[in-house]
Amino acid sequence: MTVFVTGGAGFIGANFVFHMLNTYPGYRIVCLDKLTYAGNLSTLSPVMDNPNFRFAKIDICDREAIYKLFEEEKPDIVVNFAAESHVDRSIENPEIFLQTNILGTQVLMDACRKYGIQRYHQVSTDEVYGDLPLDRPDLFFTETTPIHTSSPYSSSKAGADLLVMAYNRTYELPVTISRCSNNYGPYHFPEKLIPLMIANALADKPLPVYGEGLNVRDWLYVEDHCRAIDLIIHNGKVGEVYNVGGHNEMKNIDIVKLICKELGKPESLITYVTDRKGHDMRYAIDPTKIHNELGWLPETKFADGIKKTIKWYLDNKEWWETIISGEYQNYYEKMYGNRAEV
Ligand code: NAD
Ligand code: TYD
Repeated sequence: MTVFVTGGAGFIGANFVFHMLNTYPGYRIVCLDKLTYAGNLSTLSPVMDNPNFRFAKIDICDREAIYKLFEEEKPDIVVNFAAESHVDRSIENPEIFLQTNILGTQVLMDACRKYGIQRYHQVSTDEVYGDLPLDRPDLFFTETTPIHTSSPYSSSKAGADLLVMAYNRTYELPVTISRCSNNYGPYHFPEKLIPLMIANALADKPLPVYGEGLNVRDWLYVEDHCRAIDLIIHNGKVGEVYNVGGHNEMKNIDIVKLICKELGKPESLITYVTDRKGHDMRYAIDPTKIHNELGWLPETKFADGIKKTIKWYLDNKEWWETIISGEYQNYYEKMYGNRAEV
């Protein structure tokens, strides 16, 4: 069995590469990644010499290169993680989001049609459902919740999801889609909430909380997401969407305070800054379908997962210090330099 993992040098893709190589020693795993600012080849160094692993530096929008790799490797399964993934960047520059997230998905699926595959799996997000109000804790996203996006990022992911379903209906491409809530864990790029707060707290820098910090996200430990995708590509029904998440709702401000506590840093580092434009209030997944059909449940509780994650960032400073010492500094200055304190 040969599995293509696109975006495998990023946060979730890399964790998925490790998960698959550990779980299926007989599988060949081929990682395709453009190595954008978010892709990091050093993350994959532990598996680079594994004879069952190959890395190919490829843009999923590059049709010629993608077709060539399909001809060479003849994948059975394609799991598409490759994407521009940061909402704040999508607000600054939507175009690359549309290119990679929609047109890149199209190129991959065209290759799947041309060369034939057993399964194309699209890694999507709960953000395609928009947000839920804070005063309705009884509401959750199910697979039938209407698509109702807020940001250029979530719109590009929703566009891709619609295209994936269209390729199933029109060309009978054997597809599945997973829509997962916010992940956290090792190798999370330091522009995202949890690693950004850990890195800033360790440097005694301000912790920039958007708005009042009351927005709620449903956090899932990354390994639980990888197990869900593993189950879906092997046992999930073609043409189906599966929501992945696990009743782990937390307010942003509570997470930031928890990180301060775990690191022994004062809450006085917390700085309330101008809110994100179009900021979604609450995400919350109803995972009944994946639980009933595939037996999936999250295994890591947030209280344990956040401790493991903080320990990983303490033990692997070189990984993220290298990132934040480079081009990332320009990004940080641009994003946070003009963000007034409120
Ligand atoms: P990430 O930004 O950490 O990694 C994305 C990877 O894709 C990087 O390695 C990057 O180099 C690569 N990439 C970007 N453009 C590419 C292109 N044109 N061709 C080839 N490779 C390209 O993202 P992540 O957090 O690991 O997210 C992975 C996927 O999961 C995304 O599709 C995202 O929408 C989805 N998702 C993420 C979360 C989350 O909380 N992080 C939650 C739900 C769904
Ligand atoms: P993020 O990690 O960007 O994920 P997403 O927007 O996809 O949910 O942000 C998580 C939450 O944290 C979101 O409500 C925005 C908020 N946030 C901050 O308050 N400050 C920050 O510096 C960042 C990056 C995010």
